[in-house]
Amino acid sequence: MNGYNLIAPYYLFFVKLVFGDLLFKAQTHFLTKKLDPAQILIVGGGSGELLSFCLNQYPTTRITYVESSSKMIELSEKRVSTQDQKRVDFKCKSIFEWDTNQKFDLVVLPFILDLFSEINCHNLLHKTKSILQKKGFIMITDFSNNSSKFQKALINFMYLIFNSVGATERASLPEFYSLFASEKLSIIKKRKLGKKYYKDLVLTLQLTPC
Ligand SMILES: C[S@@+](CC[C@H](N)C(=O)[O-])C[C@H]1O[C@@H](n2cnc3c(N)ncnc32)[C@H](O)[C@@H]1O
Repeated sequence: MNGYNLIAPYYLFFVKLVFGDLLFKAQTHFLTKKLDPAQILIVGGGSGELLSFCLNQYPTTRITYVESSSKMIELSEKRVSTQDQKRVDFKCKSIFEWDTNQKFDLVVLPFILDLFSEINCHNLLHKTKSILQKKGFIMITDFSNNSSKFQKALINFMYLIFNSVGATERASLPEFYSLFASEKLSIIKKRKLGKKYYKDLVLTLQLTPC
């Protein structure tokens, strides 16, 4: 998937145009100050909005940022102050090709599971579990499989666009709950966000290995 270099400069503009702050609010919903993780891994953080949030929210936390698009990394780097640079380790790699001996207190997967084939969704969750500290958490935010015709049409349209630029490996949302169950992940917290036409459109979860 290299389509993200193509869309990186416009990505956030279109997200805000279509969804306003909904996707950002959902991604940060459970990232409370109380959590205060020592080491965070962000996978597919895009142009860095979430990275800025985490740096501000957790002033002593170290963040590893694995993002396969060099353009997205460039945009994210611009958001990091000189003072914070030593706290962020940028890795311009696919999560499937990146290896580490590190363990993380928190792994964040923001709108990324919906990109991968079934087998890669399993691979990603499996890998995430293996690099989690004993009492670590996984935060997943993604679109929700709702029955609203408008939302189904919107999600189908997004897959059409993303497929046309080679930015996804699939054509519909994963069955998140069966995926989590088969990877033995239990849900600690769950929240759906969105109002009116977007009612409950976005799902955010805090998970931990069973
Ligand atoms: C749908 S965008 C979401 C961006 C951001 N999380 C947000 O919500 O605005 C998916 C992001 O994942 C990145 N990505 C796609 N495949 C990846 C992979 N295998 N490893 C790491 N990052 C990947 C893309 O480059 C892109 O920035």
